[in-house]
Amino acid sequence: MKNKKIILAISASIAAYKAAFLLRLLVKEGAEVKVILTPTAKEFVTPLTLSTLSKNPVFSDFVLNQNGEWTNHVDLGTWADLMVIAPASANTISKMANGICDNLLIATYLSAKCPVMFAPAMDLDMYIHPSTSININKLQTFGNILIDSKEGELASGLYGKGRMAEPEEIFYKIENFFKINQSLLGKNAIVTAGPTFENIDPVRFIGNFSSGKMGFAIAEELASRGANVTLVAGPVDIKNTHKNINRINVRSAEQMFDAVINHFEENDIAVMCAAVADYTPINVAENKIKKQNDDGLIIELKKTKDILKHVGLIKKSYQFVVGFALETNDEEANALKKLKEKNADFIVLNSMQTEGAGFKHDTNKITILKNTGEKLEYNLKPKKEVAFDIVSEIINSLK
Ligand code: CTP
Repeated sequence: MKNKKIILAISASIAAYKAAFLLRLLVKEGAEVKVILTPTAKEFVTPLTLSTLSKNPVFSDFVLNQNGEWTNHVDLGTWADLMVIAPASANTISKMANGICDNLLIATYLSAKCPVMFAPAMDLDMYIHPSTSININKLQTFGNILIDSKEGELASGLYGKGRMAEPEEIFYKIENFFKINQSLLGKNAIVTAGPTFENIDPVRFIGNFSSGKMGFAIAEELASRGANVTLVAGPVDIKNTHKNINRINVRSAEQMFDAVINHFEENDIAVMCAAVADYTPINVAENKIKKQNDDGLIIELKKTKDILKHVGLIKKSYQFVVGFALETNDEEANALKKLKEKNADFIVLNSMQTEGAGFKHDTNKITILKNTGEKLEYNLKPKKEVAFDIVSEIINSLK
């Protein structure tokens, strides 16, 4: 925890008093903490208590002082290694989910380049309202880490879920987060993600249904364990959030190949997760192809370069290469063939036969086949957890 830079953001809730205990635990363990309070949170816990405990000024307003200086939320957001929003009220969660930027906490949240944890605190009925559930889920899809509420007696006198996690539990989660982080510090990793689009003419292309979610989850996981990540992304509509991710957007298989090969040498880990087109049109028509009178159209295709195979061929002893195989039949035999032919260290196999796995889902079920002959099978899980498993196994192998 020593020297870790943490923003503790407190929104209006009775549980705000617990944030003072959390702050004390963090500072005691050597973290540098800056506190942000929403304007109404000041009714629940005083800036004086928090500035004394944090040994830093407390931020609450866009205007910092009477000279009219402003609080630079962008600086705050890029300064931190981690932003912890505890307590996160229903109102703040809703603003985070929808980008309603009417206070410093949200402005900092929207500018933050670091991972974000949030610990909800509210009354039972607010907590179980579909609106809150949707907002909490939405934040998780942004990659924000939920420290879930506990069941217990609530300030209203009701009993149920909505009570903020205890400061010790939040502290433990933060401590663990940084411990896990350490393992890839100083390592570089390159990840490919998403589909590629191969142009036919100015308005048409050959593509596939890859969403990019798996590759992005792997990039986020590698970055959150300390690696510097180059993410070569095909055309997808996803945001990456971690500040250690340098994203390169590409469209075609050829552009993806060039981007990977230009950067491969400096990387210790390569995870080739993209669904790269195997074939591309030989000629791209300059103008839109018009309908012909006959009843067919033939587009001649040529093979694309196999990026995984190429990096498998040129990899040095310090480099670890992971490929993916999405199979519909003879899954394991086909994946083992790819492992060998592409000289990968792992192949991550996912089958189109498994319900809930593959391109369009938020979940996946994988088997890792290693070049050592080892085979690891996993259950169906959210892609974020699958990414955790894959990266953990890469780390185990690097050891
Ligand atoms: N891959 C790649 N470059 C390509 C094609 C595939 O890097 N031009 C990588 C994918 O990112 C993935 C693995 O290779 O890691 C998938 O292997 P591949 O044999 O290409 O799978 P398929 O395209 O599904 O092949 P096939 O159609 O023969 O099953």
